[in-house]
Amino acid sequence: MRISHLFSILIILVMLLVPVSCSQSTLPAATQKPSTPAAFSTANPKPLKTYKDLIIGFAQLGAESEWRVANTKSIKETAANLGVELRFSDAQQNQQKQIEAVRKLIIEKVDVIGISPIVETGWDEVFGEAKAAGIPIILSDRRAAVPENLYVTYLGSDFLEEGRNAARVLAKLVNGEAKIVELTGTIGSAPANDRFKGFREILQNYPGMKIIDSESGDFTRARGKEVMDSFMKQYGNTITAVFAHNDDMALGAIEAIKNYGLKPGVDIKIVSIDASHGAFEAMIAGELNATVECNPLLGPQFFDLALKVVNGETVPKWVPSAEGIFFPDTAAEILPNRKY
Ligand code: AHR
Repeated sequence: MRISHLFSILIILVMLLVPVSCSQSTLPAATQKPSTPAAFSTANPKPLKTYKDLIIGFAQLGAESEWRVANTKSIKETAANLGVELRFSDAQQNQQKQIEAVRKLIIEKVDVIGISPIVETGWDEVFGEAKAAGIPIILSDRRAAVPENLYVTYLGSDFLEEGRNAARVLAKLVNGEAKIVELTGTIGSAPANDRFKGFREILQNYPGMKIIDSESGDFTRARGKEVMDSFMKQYGNTITAVFAHNDDMALGAIEAIKNYGLKPGVDIKIVSIDASHGAFEAMIAGELNATVECNPLLGPQFFDLALKVVNGETVPKWVPSAEGIFFPDTAAEILPNRKY
């Protein structure tokens, strides 16, 4: 190759490189040095956000049970540990207040809205407003009966399976023969609807097990006691088993049974759901026969999902929580390590 040719190739290369280096020097400082780590999603060419960049809204439904208090604590503590800015509200078991809380979060333009819907229906409009504002909804703990495009994911338990497990456990305890009263959760809520269905699904296999009455105790200890008091007055010794949709109502029922002069856990077998501290103490006292776990410690998984969603990652439509079943024989050994 001749010297003149080599020289012209060199000139062309210099011309190609100069604009690149010039444009780099004119970039704003923030673009040259991102505040977030220099990591990029393949789906999304923007720099990935970290927990400290997030503003997350959480519309809690209330503080009706030991379970709910543990759930709220898990959300708040995880946010504080991760450095997430959390806008938390408590709707005191009132759907209208929960809807207003979501609307407020939309106005505040948070990155993601988490919500445990008090009941399953009545969410289409406000979830539609969040979608129109570009704010993703994560259902935490409870599902809502809305089209799938109105929320990104549901994080929580399999309530149907919890109801089935309660029936399976009770069937063993009573050898397939029982007159059962049921204390259901909040009317219209996903756990009350599904536990009701799952329990009956299994009972079909046990013709000797009859539900003689069923009434809502609204997931609270006080209402559980009131309803059980009236069941005791109405049916007395006829009752041989109780299925309570949560531990708080079972604890209320235990008080009512004692007041009536019978031995809970012995004269009347009791199975409930949650696996809270109160249930373990009742099992140790021999007054509760089993509790099916429903895990409230959703904080870490919730914020992990929120970060993924903000960064454009695809997440599963349902992220189930892992759960067990507990009995009196191991209650004393397990209780010290329980977190709720
Ligand atoms: O949604 C979960 C249920 O709600 C828990 O079983 C109950 O204790 C709570 O109030």
